Parts: sequence; structure tokens; C-alpha cells
Amino acid sequence: MAMTQLVYYSKNTLDADDRSQLVNLREILEIARRKNGENGVTGYLIFDKAYFLQILEGDKDAVEETYRRIAGDRRHADVTLVEQRPIAQRNFSDWNMGSAMRSVDHEEIYLAHGISGSIDPTKMTGSKILSLATDLRDLEARRNRSAA
Ligand SMILES: Cc1cc2nc3c(=O)[nH]c(=O)nc-3n(C[C@H](O)[C@H](O)[C@H](O)COP(=O)(O)O)c2cc1C
Repeated sequence: MAMTQLVYYSKNTLDADDRSQLVNLREILEIARRKNGENGVTGYLIFDKAYFLQILEGDKDAVEETYRRIAGDRRHADVTLVEQRPIAQRNFSDWNMGSAMRSVDHEEIYLAHGISGSIDPTKMTGSKILSLATDLRDLEARRNRSAA
């Protein structure tokens, strides 16, 4: 089975109202986790009010089919592929779709990645997005462990 990892970003076009953003995002994550579970897709979604940055990994056909479906979704726009590469192992094997909405708790991680203001994915490489997502995931995993 040929495994692939794909990184893209897009513009968040959800209603700017905080509450409806949250409702929409919850809906997106719910369906993403269910469908990815069915399709053996894993990954991570980073988002703020302006952008989505997402990593998808798994069987090449499943990832490409998922990406085509996502790219046609009208809840975001200007979906831009940053990188797609073959992988031997997943980076997010335990996550059907991990996610991090930017918050004050994440500022230290963003700063460590040289991001002090708004995130601008148009200036980021695939490996930069991947390492930011990995650090956010590790923070979330540490928190889950200490809450357990
Ligand atoms: C930012 C964003 C990320 C998404 N991530 C996924 C994902 O990881 N997997 C997935 O199946 N759908 C994801 N979706 C939802 C799909 O676009 C689509 O609505 C969903 O897969 C249902 O497709 P269907 O109505 O054709 O069955 C995402 C949507 C958005 C806007």
C-alpha cells in the first residue's frame, strides 16, 4: 500500500461570529473524524479566523479522494496544495483528525516557530507546517495525559 502525506492551506470563509464558527468547526471535525476513520486517513488541522492548515496522511488513493472532497467544500476557499510526498510511516497515527484552534495557550509554540502575529501559510513550507502541527499535537497529548 503506497502511503502519502499531503499538506494544504485554505482561507476560512466561515461566518466571523465566534459562536457560529465554533458550531461549524465542531461539525467539520465530527464528519472529518468519522470519514477519516472509515478511510484510514489520519492527520491534523490547525485553524484560526483567517486560515485552515491541514495535514492528511494514509493510503494514497484515500488521501487524494479525501482532498478532492475537502477542496470542493464551500466552508473555505482558495484551497492550495503545499506539498504531497510518499511516507513510510504516519506522523499522526493516533489521530483521525487532531485539531488546534489558535489560543493564548499556544503562543509559546507559535513563537518558537517564529510566528509572532497572524499565521501566514503562504510563506510556510510543508515541513514548517508539519513541525508546527507536531508540536501542537504533543502539547495536546501532554495535556490529555495530565487530565487523565
Ligand atoms: C477545513 C476543512 C477540513 C476538512 N477535513 C476533512 C477531513 O479530514 N476528512 C473528511 O472526510 N472531510 C473533511 N472535511 C469535510 C469535507 O469537506 C466534506 O464536507 C465531508 O467529507 C463530507 O463529504 P460528502 O458530503 O461528500 O460525504 C473538511 C472540511 C473543511 C472545510
